[in-house]
Amino acid sequence: MGDGMLHGIRLSDGRAQRYANRWVRTKTFETGGPVIGADRRVDLRAGSANTSVVEHAGRIFALVESSFPCEITPQLETVGAYDFDGRLHTAMTAHPKRCPVTGELHFFGYSAMPQLPALAYHRVDSAGALVESRIIDIPGRTMMHDFAITPNYVIFMDLPVVFDPQRAMQGTMPFRWSDDYGARLGVMNRAGNETVRWFDIEPCYVFHVVNAFEDGDRIVLDAARYKELWRNNANDFGEAKLHRWTLDLASSAVREQPLDDTPVEFPRIDESRTGLSYRYGYALADLGEARSGIVKHDFATNRKSSFVCDDGQIAGEFVFVAAADAKAEDDGWILGLVYDQTRDGSDFVIVDARGLTRIATVQLPQRVPGGFHGAWLPGL
Ligand SMILES: [Fe+2]
Repeated sequence: MGDGMLHGIRLSDGRAQRYANRWVRTKTFETGGPVIGADRRVDLRAGSANTSVVEHAGRIFALVESSFPCEITPQLETVGAYDFDGRLHTAMTAHPKRCPVTGELHFFGYSAMPQLPALAYHRVDSAGALVESRIIDIPGRTMMHDFAITPNYVIFMDLPVVFDPQRAMQGTMPFRWSDDYGARLGVMNRAGNETVRWFDIEPCYVFHVVNAFEDGDRIVLDAARYKELWRNNANDFGEAKLHRWTLDLASSAVREQPLDDTPVEFPRIDESRTGLSYRYGYALADLGEARSGIVKHDFATNRKSSFVCDDGQIAGEFVFVAAADAKAEDDGWILGLVYDQTRDGSDFVIVDARGLTRIATVQLPQRVPGGFHGAWLPGL
């Protein structure tokens, strides 16, 4: 619920040249204006912009799923809310997906408020123009944090964490678990405007998708799955584990497969594989015995390896960066922030993505509070 703060580390010539942090100066930060006013009107220009960062067609956005994107500069100064030249009329997820085949940015916006669609899909071309929006019918008002694309399809997750006005009044996350809502994955053709085809699945919750891909008539979706979420209150998290759904478009059958028992979150991949067959994912993991680290999951063999933090250190999300001349999918590095409890400080850590050995540690000049998602923005 807090205001977004950006932390930037500039790397060049083999060195960390600069660290800077800045608040995202959204309308809410500057004036306190809420996303939902006392008159229940939604102000998509307000919001916290506290969840993720994405760059597309020369613009950098700080994102939170309740609001328009907030444009920022490479120096982390705030430009302001961005509505794609007046074409966007919903919020924007913090997890848009760039299609490596077309260079388009796909995203959705959802809302719990009746004056906005429960779910809308949007497509931005490679030059940055919002060129398509579609309203998607879903039975209720659910919290939708992430989705997936493949070259031909968009996959939505309509899961049983539903809007709860009572929790909204209490100032906590305004959603709760529902035993009645059911759970379904929606498959939408990227071309044409057929209705979305829904596949019922076992009730669960997913914040983050690892990836999806097409396999003939099947669509495979991998994600970090919670058995349930927020039954009693918004601290009711449980653990997320890697899970695979295989949707058979010919027979309408759904296959569910738990993949691993390690509690994970914040999975990332080589984003040049988004929507395509892929082999590796990298996720923040609870490795047991108070050990934090990053698990590299090999989806081809269902085996894993890990980078384990030192005693008293806690990792955040690690982002995959491919080598410029990469010859294999894991030819590159994973980069992230590690909090060191013993000195109450933070390190920027670079790990070789193949062998998971530490390549470099940069001690930052100040502690970086725990956050959500990061991004590698090359060439700035
Ligand atoms: Fe997220």
